[in-house]
Amino acid sequence: MSDFPFSKRTDWSLQNNPLSLALEKLHNQGTHILDLTESNPTRCGFVYPRLWLEAFTNQNNLTYTPEAKGIGLARRAIADYYQRKRITISSDKIILTSSTSEGYSFLLKLLTNPGDHVLVPKPSYPLFQFLLELHDVESDYYPLVYNGAWSIDRQAFRSLMTVQTKAVILVNPNNPTGSYVNADDMAFLNEQCLKNHMAIISDEVFFDYQLNTHINPYSLCLNNEVLTFVLSGISKILGLPQMKLSWIAVNGPNTIVDTAMQRLEIIADTYLSVNAPVQNALASWLMEESLVQKQILDKVNQNISTLHQHNLKPLAVDGGWYAVIHKPFIKSEESFVLSLLEQEQVLVHPGFFLILIKKDTWF
Ligand SMILES: Cc1ncc(COP(=O)(O)O)c(C=O)c1O
Repeated sequence: MSDFPFSKRTDWSLQNNPLSLALEKLHNQGTHILDLTESNPTRCGFVYPRLWLEAFTNQNNLTYTPEAKGIGLARRAIADYYQRKRITISSDKIILTSSTSEGYSFLLKLLTNPGDHVLVPKPSYPLFQFLLELHDVESDYYPLVYNGAWSIDRQAFRSLMTVQTKAVILVNPNNPTGSYVNADDMAFLNEQCLKNHMAIISDEVFFDYQLNTHINPYSLCLNNEVLTFVLSGISKILGLPQMKLSWIAVNGPNTIVDTAMQRLEIIADTYLSVNAPVQNALASWLMEESLVQKQILDKVNQNISTLHQHNLKPLAVDGGWYAVIHKPFIKSEESFVLSLLEQEQVLVHPGFFLILIKKDTWF
């Protein structure tokens, strides 16, 4: 422990949990582990087109022409990518960031003051807690409930609303539940946001990975009822997390959107964090998105079939890269997951890792 007065917001417990300790021990012993938590696509054996690297020889990479929102060519490539899905969005309403996390950071700077609150789904992506803490924002977790399909627990959602609640985060489809937002929940969210002057932040990094072909997923790029920000990027769309390029697409009532864009532009101008080579390469890469997406989709479908073959019965999953398995008769998730690792050398995430608040209270 150091006496240096570091900020309170970084006063995290730095102790390893029992699962990471057990994992480290097995790694040190050279034990092979079947890692079912692997979500780094560059480590999953997918074949990336070598030609994609040729984009880096573009002469324009040798000139620096800073543009706060990102270069027009890259933003138009993103608008075209949406147009191919019949989603019309102007490239002027798109702002580039180096990662989705940075997109969240820009939006928290835009929407919140220290001590404000943001509604976060549970279960969901565990990084939210850190992203919010780093901006001195309180997270209030609204539950998603499962009745054959996932939906928002509206009573719980309403009970969390305060005058300091500035935004609601939606993950569409959600990690790990694989659920896209349904029409009823969408109407509910718009009503709540209109009534309480809140914005919606929709994380759609997994949107293209639709597994259930019987549904018609709704992208919030089309939601113009309330101030809406859609986050996405190439870490998932092209399976290229190392290239660091994401974006925020802004939608909603015109006057609010215009002000939001002006402010976001200044935030982005303060950092100018997106590198030129990747922006210059984006248009050609996005035209070939299916080359990698198809491999990832095949792999995820195969993994889900394997779960069914072994009678592990995942909960319904409509999209994304993850599956949730309900194990009702275990006493402690932590000891179950630990014994799976130590005895079978299989690594999975315990549910509480994605809920963060209380252990063993999923349903
Ligand atoms: C819901 C969700 N959003 C964002 C990300 C990360 O995106 P990026 O690499 O662009 O920061 C992840 C990564 O797993 C995720 O699950």
